[in-house]
Amino acid sequence: MPRLLLPFLLLLVIPATLMAGDGPSMVALFGRAHVVMVHFPVALLMLLALIEVLRWRRTAGSMDQTVALIAVVTALSSIVAMIQGLMLGGDDGESDYAKLVWLHKWLGIATTLVACAVAVVALRRQLGDTIGLTRIYRALVLPGAVLVSLTGHYGGALVHGENHLRIMPWEIWQDLFGAKQNGPLDPAHADIPDKIDFWRDIDPIFKRVCYECHDAKEQKGELRMDSREAQLKGGEGGPSIIPGDSAKSLTMIRIRGEGDDPRMPKKKPPLSEREIALIAKWIDTGAEWPAKP
Ligand code: HEC
Repeated sequence: MPRLLLPFLLLLVIPATLMAGDGPSMVALFGRAHVVMVHFPVALLMLLALIEVLRWRRTAGSMDQTVALIAVVTALSSIVAMIQGLMLGGDDGESDYAKLVWLHKWLGIATTLVACAVAVVALRRQLGDTIGLTRIYRALVLPGAVLVSLTGHYGGALVHGENHLRIMPWEIWQDLFGAKQNGPLDPAHADIPDKIDFWRDIDPIFKRVCYECHDAKEQKGELRMDSREAQLKGGEGGPSIIPGDSAKSLTMIRIRGEGDDPRMPKKKPPLSEREIALIAKWIDTGAEWPAKP
């Protein structure tokens, strides 16, 4: 057991020490460590559930020891992923993004608790298998697999934009039947607010995908994006925003990937259609940037 713990502790400690230097790129690194780590509990909880389904009729099994080992690794990796996730933070505010972070966070915490319970029961069962323990184990591991898929789904939405994978039953329902009631469903312009609020709608996007390379610390292309003045001044290619004219604004050209220069955010998944529409509307309506509330 102690030997098992070591690699996980290392994975936790390395990004944690880097975090001490704080700054956006450290947060980004830490975020990546979380995104890497979460694959363990996702795959392993699914695997544990699959094993139970495959040996549904058998209650005492020769695999109990192996299952217990996998269950322990699952619990450990969930704990590490959860701590990394909690250190990323980012669920303050009223934006849709913040709400998604909130949902993802609590589903993640619930998943970790269930994964720990699964490990405890699996370890007990391995010592002396009883039908009772197997029932409890199954009653935990199957909901655990559902929880981890939901958590992963919303996590994916955070990284790739909300419409990255519309596979949840209610989303399929929306796509199939929502369209008929509301005219063609255009996820890009669905629920774009009438009045853009910079701190609610725009700042979270810039924070998540732009400031890492364009703020006080880092000015790729000589561009600093963290104030209106800085964006009006712009970088090598001139102003990054032209209030009132999103089509000519360099930021829009770059996040849409028009022209020959690389699409922004560089080397990362593109913004969602909705996020692009939000920024375009923000610029078209004057790119207001009030003092931080
Ligand atoms: C991983 C780093 C990285 C991230 C994240 C990133 N950029 Fe950039 N950006 C660059 C680099 C490097 C350049 C300079 C090279 C070039 O022009 O392609 C640049 C250049 C630009 C330019 C042109 C500046 C000029 O005046 O020539 C704009 C506009 C821009 N970025 C907007 C954005 C926006 C908007 C985001 C967030 C959606 C973003 N960038 C995120 C690395 C990044």
